[in-house]
Amino acid sequence: MATTNIMDMFEPGKVVRVCAPMVRYSKLAFRTLVRKYDCDICFTPMIIAADFMRSVKARDSEFTTNKADRPLIVQFAAKDAQALADSACVVAPFSDGVDLNCGCPQRWAMAEGYGACLINKPELVKDMVRHVRNQVDNPCYSVSIKIRIHKDIRKTVDLCQKVEAAGVSWVTVHGRTADERHQPVHYDAIKAIKDSLSIPVIANGDIKSSRDVESIHELTGVDGINAFDHKMTLQWTAVASFLYVEIGVLLILCLPFISAQRWQSIFRLNIWNKVAQFSNKLFLTMIIILIVLFLDAVREVRKYSGTERSKEGKLHPNMFDHLHMKLFRAQRNLYISGFSLFLWLVMRRVITLINQLATEAITSAALQAQCENANQAAKKYMEDNELLKQALHGGEGEKVSAEDNKVLKKEVEKLTEELKSSEDALRTSKLELEAVKRQADNLTKEYDRLLREHQELQNLHAASEEKKDK
Ligand SMILES: Cc1cc2nc3c(=O)[nH]c(=O)nc-3n(C[C@H](O)[C@H](O)[C@H](O)COP(=O)(O)O)c2cc1C
Repeated sequence: MATTNIMDMFEPGKVVRVCAPMVRYSKLAFRTLVRKYDCDICFTPMIIAADFMRSVKARDSEFTTNKADRPLIVQFAAKDAQALADSACVVAPFSDGVDLNCGCPQRWAMAEGYGACLINKPELVKDMVRHVRNQVDNPCYSVSIKIRIHKDIRKTVDLCQKVEAAGVSWVTVHGRTADERHQPVHYDAIKAIKDSLSIPVIANGDIKSSRDVESIHELTGVDGINAFDHKMTLQWTAVASFLYVEIGVLLILCLPFISAQRWQSIFRLNIWNKVAQFSNKLFLTMIIILIVLFLDAVREVRKYSGTERSKEGKLHPNMFDHLHMKLFRAQRNLYISGFSLFLWLVMRRVITLINQLATEAITSAALQAQCENANQAAKKYMEDNELLKQALHGGEGEKVSAEDNKVLKKEVEKLTEELKSSEDALRTSKLELEAVKRQADNLTKEYDRLLREHQELQNLHAASEEKKDK
């Protein structure tokens, strides 16, 4: 297939959308997918040029493509100009350009002399660019580099100008230093590089949505945007929708004309029984998801609120608009995840309270009915009592019948007689008891006297026996 001249794709005012190189990800299947979504150029994952040239097996496993996989840039990690040029010659018939990775910040790569350490070796980078230019037999074939920035942006500008002079086709700038990981991207530095070069510049870093593409293009004036995912926007849209649903449900639960008993009868419908089996798991899962999102939002807010206005920033006020927009989005995400979490807990509590209120209402209605019954019974007893009292005191005789009166009087007389006879019996038995007591005293005295006599007789008998023996 004929080579696409990548340089023709960079037109003034137009943004070229590039799928960034990603080890393990930006392989053929991934590239085929992203090409369906307005992606203009795709990068392969980084391939180590020296290993690539060492064996056919390495080439087959590291580089796969097909006819539809164009325009394609093959990215290499290299520290030797000839190894890079050889690799470029191998892939040139199947691609539209090679890219030298001067931005990988991983420790192993830097230690081996690959990646971001190359931004401090402009002569070597120039040499590698020249070797590819001279040895690939296709003038339309592009040679590009992907770099990270220096703390002192003048050094990066100097590097870029040198490689531009050596014939590099375009430069991708990841707007962070080799030490930075998730800090905000220095778009002001990308702009400074773009302003100092006449070749196309592609901005890279922290580009997550189409809106980011537009705002960064406006901010830096670059020719292309190198991005790799959209997931945040979808994720936060889902959280915001969830928050609105929560607010809606809570408003309905608070409607004053729906009683707690009515809600309870709704909660007891059969459909809820099926949901109830999973309700605890669902509740906990939602809490975990919302906490994770909340912490993610906190991290983003901290990331952007720590950004200070630098010297270059003052020269580029748009940069701060962009950072403030990022901060605003992060704060918005913080609020929606925080409120979602809060309302989720409130909703559970409200449902529990409504259930309790309904149960209490039913119990208090039953108690009230019981109290009324008890009241009526007490009233009736009081009336009966009154009647009895009157009957006993012989008050208003007309209310009690004469027969009842007679029976009662007879009973009283009978009881009085029984009481008298019992008193007599008690007195008689007391007298008998005293007589028995006296008799017992006399018997005791008699017994003592007999004992004494018996003792004396025994003594006498013993004395007479003694005399006989003598
Ligand atoms: C999983 C993964 C693999 C990557 N592999 C490469 C690579 O092979 N070559 C390269 O130049 N950059 C690579 N990068 C960096 C990306 O191309 C891009 O510069 C970076 O993700 C942009 O920063 P951001 O994550 O803040 O948006 C990789 C990034 C990730 C997340």
